[in-house]
Amino acid sequence: MAMQGFTARKSLDAMAEGDGHAMKKTLGPWSITAMGIGAIIGAGIFVLTGTAAARYAGPGIMLSFVLGGVACAFVGLCYAELAAMLPVCGSSYSYTYATLGEIFAWIVGWDLILEYAAGAATVAVGWSGYAVSLLGQAGLAVPPRFAAAPGADVALPDGSRATALLNLPAAAIVVAITALLVLGTAESSRFNNVMVAVKLAVVALFVGFGAFSLDPAHWHPFVPPNDGEFGHFGASGVLRGASVVFFAFIGFDAVSTAAGEATRPQRDMPIGILGSLLVCTLLYVAVTAVLTGLVPFGQLDVADPIAKGVDAIGRLWLSLPVKFGALAGLTTVMLVLLYGQSRIFTTMAQDGLLPAPFGRLHPRFGTPVLSQLLIGAAVATVAALVPIAVLGEMVSIGTLLAFGLVCVAVMRLRRTDPAAERPFRCPAVPVLPGLGILCCLTLMAGLPLLTWARLIVWLGIGLAVYFGYGRRHSKLRDAAAGR
Ligand code: ALA
Repeated sequence: MAMQGFTARKSLDAMAEGDGHAMKKTLGPWSITAMGIGAIIGAGIFVLTGTAAARYAGPGIMLSFVLGGVACAFVGLCYAELAAMLPVCGSSYSYTYATLGEIFAWIVGWDLILEYAAGAATVAVGWSGYAVSLLGQAGLAVPPRFAAAPGADVALPDGSRATALLNLPAAAIVVAITALLVLGTAESSRFNNVMVAVKLAVVALFVGFGAFSLDPAHWHPFVPPNDGEFGHFGASGVLRGASVVFFAFIGFDAVSTAAGEATRPQRDMPIGILGSLLVCTLLYVAVTAVLTGLVPFGQLDVADPIAKGVDAIGRLWLSLPVKFGALAGLTTVMLVLLYGQSRIFTTMAQDGLLPAPFGRLHPRFGTPVLSQLLIGAAVATVAALVPIAVLGEMVSIGTLLAFGLVCVAVMRLRRTDPAAERPFRCPAVPVLPGLGILCCLTLMAGLPLLTWARLIVWLGIGLAVYFGYGRRHSKLRDAAAGR
């Protein structure tokens, strides 16, 4: 009996029918694909690419992106099967509830906070860097002590050094996006579509103009020889590069959190997940090909590598649109991640694992206002206080764990419920999900031990919350006990 709460899993039929907390169905295939692209193209390509090329892979960073894309495709096919089969808002949390049982679902839900909330905070810090630089160009200087995490060493305008107090622009953008999300999904989606168009246009401009200015000699050697240390160029460098730029792919799964608001989720979930992943992988390879053809890879270890590429093109007018495009890109990533986090909390609250008010929708806006506000406040605080490097690695490890469990869920459901209707079927099960798990474990193995330790502490706190609250309030357990 004591084990019942651990192993109890939701019935597929109950999940497919929903539970009466219906959200407005406002999202079609284009909006959903735009959501995916909105969540994917951001700090990964605009910030991390340069460092990964300069330190680990050289022009072989193109291969790193192909590797990352293939790994995510395995996982994406698994997400597509489950999102079409179980069109609910909770993403991998809900899929785990239906396959591995409540305690695993809780662990995934808790873990997803790392992907969505910590992911949004990470990108907010990147956004702050670009915004401060653009405002500076416009003559509006933000005091450096209020534009970095506490304790960071910053340069003042008079050339002296000082210690930063907090990152105000990072917190401010999170507050602004939270306000938009509270006002409505349709409004947020329209804003997202426009911003996605802006960032795609800027990426296309960069690739289009850059292709005519690049020098193919910069691509030789394509994979510079390893310098004796694992991960520094050579094949291991390409692999390390893939672990770093994995961050650039995070977000395609956020599409699945919109299943409850999609007009035809059975058809549109696979389109949105796989379509956005394909578009972004192709764009990433094109951008890195052009970038490493424009600038010798050793010079790319900067915070704004794409801006450096634009300088090499030599068209001065391109510089401003590219910075705006980067800002638009980072904004949509935060928008979709903050949206996704609130939908996951809402689903968890409706299951009784979080307090009920977090699951309530606002009567007029139709959005989960309390969840959204709580998440906004927490993410703004973290973005203001924590350095980007610590955040980024936690996001990667948390996401990889959730991705791996989704592959496990697909394999298990095929065995436990082979006859269930599957509007989209992941091909070659169990080989393909098995490869997905292998990829996730390989990329996790590349992360530092300290990050693993932090993950274990985070999951430990999560279990304490589960035993202190969720387990005692679970609706599934109440129903099983006839309460
Ligand atoms: N993929 C997202 C980014 O690169 C998280 O910003």
